Amino acid sequence: MIIQPRVRGFICLTSHPEGTAQHVKQQIDYVKSKGKIDNGPKKVLVIGASTGFGLASRITAAFGSDADTIGVFFEKPAAPGKPGTAGWYNTAAFEKEAQAAGLYAKSINGDAFSDEIKKQTIALIKEDLGQVDLVVYSLASPRRTHPKTGTVHTSVLKPIGQTFTDKTVDFHSGVVSDISIQPVESEEDIDNTITVMGGEDWKFWIEQMKKAGVLAEGAKTVAYSYIGPELTYPIYRNGTIGKAKDDLEGTVPLLNDLLSDIGGRSYVSVNKALVTQSSSAIPVVPLYISLLYKVMKEKGIHEGTIEQMQRLFAERLYADREIPLDEKGRIRVDDWEMRDDVQTEVAKLWEQISTENLEQISDIVGYRNDFFNLFGFNFDAIDYNKDTNELVNIPSIK
Ligand code: NAD
Ligand code: NA
Repeated sequence: MIIQPRVRGFICLTSHPEGTAQHVKQQIDYVKSKGKIDNGPKKVLVIGASTGFGLASRITAAFGSDADTIGVFFEKPAAPGKPGTAGWYNTAAFEKEAQAAGLYAKSINGDAFSDEIKKQTIALIKEDLGQVDLVVYSLASPRRTHPKTGTVHTSVLKPIGQTFTDKTVDFHSGVVSDISIQPVESEEDIDNTITVMGGEDWKFWIEQMKKAGVLAEGAKTVAYSYIGPELTYPIYRNGTIGKAKDDLEGTVPLLNDLLSDIGGRSYVSVNKALVTQSSSAIPVVPLYISLLYKVMKEKGIHEGTIEQMQRLFAERLYADREIPLDEKGRIRVDDWEMRDDVQTEVAKLWEQISTENLEQISDIVGYRNDFFNLFGFNFDAIDYNKDTNELVNIPSIK
């Protein structure tokens, strides 16, 4: 079928199999261009492996360190006449590239919050790998069915305490406007967001894996967090999602205790703001990212998801030195985003930004391009008027 972008709000309803394959290939090529990561991970589980930071982590482990990888995610396969999701196609492309390179790669499609998928994953590790030495936890989800109670919790992206008003952009139309976001009405919204995006599920994974004996001596686990600039504090770090990130970060000492007898360690890495399916859903943030990209590109320090994850593995997690942590015990690969000179300039541009000057003073063009790339669109080498086969299989999923 002919597949072109169909955008509804901040999501794109279609994905292009050849375009996403090209996107994956670009990321693989980047990791290869950086050379092998000495003493990197060998057997890796990535939870949330199909898009964004999780996919980039999987690619880095496989192609930077020859690691065997198992990926868990929640994606939709194609049906005749209906394309699959980007994460489905990404994984199909990843597995094929991994196979061609002689690397083990298998995937599990299902609800990572459930006990059933945890069991399946543990069984697959036992059968094929024995144990893993790295667990990457990179889920981003708007809801979670709690495995113990069956309750469905829905997260919200809201400020706490007072209404937040600031600029935002509709990145498709380029209209910059003021948005007011009402604060949460009850503690329940905060609790639900923590239940979905906090650390409990990460803890459940590590507990169950430890109990099953599938974590190797010295195993590491890492989850991803975000802080960002003061201007997004009301909606991000001091909002409901920030409470969930506090909870995630607060899980690190618990997991360190749990892993101490096998010499394991857990980490949270604070990553840079980037265009992903998840971040495009947060008000205000896409406008901030457009300005951030402009400033970081001008300074020659821009990174995408793959550059971030390659640096996390090569220069933090597996650098042959003690891993540098901030005062709260976190790894920081948002260090370049948070540089004073970068933030000062972004803040200055933030004051000026409007619909009229959006194209000149922000990198909205780069934002849009990255957004469409997530779904396999905007690649020069691909003719989007041509038929493509939407029915692509992930080799390891029957
Ligand atoms: P993403 O939307 O690109 O990826 C989310 C992944 O989770 C996908 O693989 C998806 O299939 C999987 N997933 C979602 N629900 C699932 C479920 N129920 N079961 C199994 N898999 C499920 O998101 P992302 O932006 O890469 O976010 C990953 C992590 O990085 C999040 O913790 C996010 O907060 C954090 N982070 C993101 C940014 C950013 O700017 N995007 C910055 C810093 C940190
Ligand atoms: Na190393």
